Amino acid sequence: MSLPSVNPIKTNAWKKLQQHFQETKNVKMQDLFAEDETRADRFAISWNDFYVDFSKNRITSETFSLLLQLAEDVNLKEAIQQQFSGANINETENRAVLHTALRDFKNMKPEVANALQQMKQFSEAVIQGDWKGYTGKPITTIVNIGIGGSDLGPDMVTEALTYYKNQLQTYFISNVDGDHVMETLKKLNPETTLFIIVSKTFTTQETLTNATTVRSWFLKTASESDVAKHFVAVSTNLEAVKEFGIASENIFPMWDWVGGRFSLWSAVGLSICCSVGYTNFEDLLKGANEMDGHFSETPFQENIPVVLALLSVWYANFYKAESEAVLPYTQYLTKLVPYLQQAIMESNGKSIDRNDAPVDYETGTIIWGGTGTNSQHAFFQLLHQGTKLIPSDFIGFAESLHGNKEHHDKLLANFIAQTEALLQGTEGVTTPNNYKKFEGNKPTNTILIQKLTPKSIGSLIALYEHKLFVQGIVWNIYSYDQWGVELGKNIAKHTLKAIQSSERMKNSSTNNLLSKI
Ligand code: F6P
Repeated sequence: MSLPSVNPIKTNAWKKLQQHFQETKNVKMQDLFAEDETRADRFAISWNDFYVDFSKNRITSETFSLLLQLAEDVNLKEAIQQQFSGANINETENRAVLHTALRDFKNMKPEVANALQQMKQFSEAVIQGDWKGYTGKPITTIVNIGIGGSDLGPDMVTEALTYYKNQLQTYFISNVDGDHVMETLKKLNPETTLFIIVSKTFTTQETLTNATTVRSWFLKTASESDVAKHFVAVSTNLEAVKEFGIASENIFPMWDWVGGRFSLWSAVGLSICCSVGYTNFEDLLKGANEMDGHFSETPFQENIPVVLALLSVWYANFYKAESEAVLPYTQYLTKLVPYLQQAIMESNGKSIDRNDAPVDYETGTIIWGGTGTNSQHAFFQLLHQGTKLIPSDFIGFAESLHGNKEHHDKLLANFIAQTEALLQGTEGVTTPNNYKKFEGNKPTNTILIQKLTPKSIGSLIALYEHKLFVQGIVWNIYSYDQWGVELGKNIAKHTLKAIQSSERMKNSSTNNLLSKI
């Protein structure tokens, strides 16, 4: 079964939205709030411990219903069913897209249950000190070696759950730049360090180069027979892993129906599991699974990922907003933005539709951002007074983990003040100079979560996974391949040869650069 393929701009809803946009593009949210006391309640969704306020958007009831109509017109319901049923919706790679099956405890596939069991036993042995290094000492340090989806998700979640972390020290090595691995190695003791090599394909240049460098470093003090105690791998490519010298009992599985950027829920998340323990890892999965239920069963008007995706389409395709800012108000989510950049931009950075034809409308938004309050003192000036429209997601937690009321009150005061300022601007305030004027009317979503827990982080990540899926369906593109990164990888093979020999490339600029190296 293939995904429905509907050109969004040919739908009735799109045409109506175009006209509606012309009529309402100069609408001021300040006026919409003044005219309607119920607005904040009408444009908000409460779900579990999430409260999503999307009332500070340039939408009226009509905009909202037309956007919902667009979701119907592109057959979103059918697309969701297909994804969850395991149809090969990643058609360009002929694969299913079933990261949701990794956290579906009710209908768990036996191979997923086995992998979780393997992760549980392994992580418990490491955490409890039963897994010994080659000199008999317990493991103190975990190092994840991977890149892209085999790095960003585990790294982001491990950092997000720092509060729940155990005594193990965790490092991530990803960049092929030797600075990354060399600086990390300086901090490591080979006797007490365990390396997790994560690569779905086990062909990725960066990961294999780093893994080989690390193994050579390890073998300076240990012997080949000690490798089994210090190296494990997560991959679909069992042959290549064994060839690398990793014992088959130390290989954790991956499946081709899990895309790299959606894989933290699988054994790719082994470093998370070791850092926070299996129970917390399972809670992360449960939180994501609850969001899967919400997404697949809730009517679109109350469906958080659907609503956020449609708002994003509204700005990207009608207001021509090119980017979106993601602004978590917690230091724990410092790595959320790079993670979402891969998830969203690798998925929806496409310009060919599902009929293999070039699109003639905008697709994938540029994702950027940073943590509040630091970002307020960095780039918020441009959000407030710049010329670009940048819809933003403000993510915050009602309760703190540290319990220091003064800090948390001040953090939340800023969190709320910013969306208020972006909405209201200086309207009604007399300012003598234009440069002191703020127009306001800047759209924001507020995602307020009760508390940062493994479960709520699981739900939050799944929210964005589903949001990007909905956008891909509306834009009629394939969100689950990433052919765009292949060309550069292939050319890098040739440029490496050129650097290491006297071979030259076609282009004179490239050759001039090569001659300088
Ligand atoms: O270059 C992009 C990519 O293919 C990602 O999609 C993937 O997460 C990453 O490379 C790493 O791939 P692997 O897990 O096979 O090493």
